[in-house]
Amino acid sequence: MSHITCVILAAGKGTRMKSDLPKVMHQLVGMPLIDHVLAKTQKLGIKDIITIVGHGRDIVTDHIGTRSDIVIQEKQLGTGHALCQAAPKLKDDSCVLVLSGDQPLLSLNTLACLLEHHQLSGAAATVLSAVMEEPYGYGRIIKKDGVFQGIVEEKDAQPEQKEIKEINTGTYCFQGHELKRALQLIKPQNAQGEYYLTDVFDILLNSGHKIEVFRTKHANEALGINNRCQLAEAEDLMYDQIRKDWMMEGVTIINPSTVLIDPQVKIGKDVIIHPFTIIKGTTIIAEHSVIGPSTRLENCTCLQACHIENSVAKDAIIGEDCVIGPFAYLRPGTVLAKGVKVGDFVEIKNSNIGEGSKVPHLSYIGDSDLGKKVNIGAGTITCNYDGKQKHRTVVGDHAFVGSNTNFVAPVTIGKDSVIGAGSTITKNVPDNSLAIERSQQKIINNWLKANDN
Ligand code: UD1
Ligand code: CA
Repeated sequence: MSHITCVILAAGKGTRMKSDLPKVMHQLVGMPLIDHVLAKTQKLGIKDIITIVGHGRDIVTDHIGTRSDIVIQEKQLGTGHALCQAAPKLKDDSCVLVLSGDQPLLSLNTLACLLEHHQLSGAAATVLSAVMEEPYGYGRIIKKDGVFQGIVEEKDAQPEQKEIKEINTGTYCFQGHELKRALQLIKPQNAQGEYYLTDVFDILLNSGHKIEVFRTKHANEALGINNRCQLAEAEDLMYDQIRKDWMMEGVTIINPSTVLIDPQVKIGKDVIIHPFTIIKGTTIIAEHSVIGPSTRLENCTCLQACHIENSVAKDAIIGEDCVIGPFAYLRPGTVLAKGVKVGDFVEIKNSNIGEGSKVPHLSYIGDSDLGKKVNIGAGTITCNYDGKQKHRTVVGDHAFVGSNTNFVAPVTIGKDSVIGAGSTITKNVPDNSLAIERSQQKIINNWLKANDN
């Protein structure tokens, strides 16, 4: 097998996306299109990767970082012109795999089969084709008596050519030397006035070279993202596959089409996911947890048998047997130990909540450390911000905090202490004590009568 160089075409404006963002930076199942393509080249073990950038090049180049060499296409004069920019970097004796940045669904298996077919056949070029029920917009594979004759673009096709359902996926393998020679000869003589990469095939055929068409059975994988409808279609296909994979691994998903799970998420068996739930980023959900309905988790770790309902959590760790929601909001830095309850309309941020503690209703707990078996009464607020800096609130094990308490941080509450309802606590409270801060209740008898007239 010869050395493989992969060239990813990603310089186009993506005019049909009608967007300020370069096309390859649009998100698909939680990551930009270009990441899907790069991840595949890495999984194929290809070390030599060149990405052609142009439109929005700074954003794309920054995003790619060290994952690929970058070559700039100053003006976007077509796919052939794009590949030409990389020609000086291509070795004569290498196999050049060309991928499009806007084709994220091609599977590893399809690409590996294409590479194998190309290398075994000894062809100068191999084009990956697929049969599409609705081929509109794609280049068509022209054959005569079953023999490949070339590729014609939709805009240049004759009416009878538009009937052809075998399309060019835009993914190819080339013999390095022959590719470089042919690229020099392409001319922008077509309906779009562009340098078409697909014209390389005519040139190679005319000089008597062997060209292979490798047809994949998985036409869905060939979907190219040119507009937002195709982006949504690709996303539907990917989410559907992810859900099916998890269901086959023992996860119950109720009304699956309403549940979105990103590719890096990990889920244990016997987890139940209720409708309208979105699980994003690097979230991990351990066995026997019940998530949703209407819950959004992003980069969270949920240990065994958590119950989370109608809630939002980001960058949070949720311990075993925790019960969250409905309507809780766990913000970054929240760490809940085993058996914590966080109830309705509670927000927690950058705080550790000890084993078996409860924050059941209407509270804000920020920058705090709560011990074990603490009970926080309804409406309790940590006043963590003095207008300049954030301060911590510490509450010892078994403390009982009455409803509507304000903790003005920094403040420390000792173990086994009780805070009277309605107190604004500004000073530390020792262990085993009661702190109460409110004015004495007055009773004025016959108040209404005394104020008559
Ligand atoms: C291309 C193919 C078409 C194929 C289809 C598959 C050509 C002429 N046509 O059409 O046969 O069916 O893909 O999806 O190749 N790009 C650049 N620089 C440019 C122009 C494009 O880097 O100057 C990049 C784009 O960013 C994109 C890729 O090349 O990632 C394909 O370009 P696009 O304009 O989407 O080509 P299609 O019209 O889809
Ligand atoms: Ca395209």
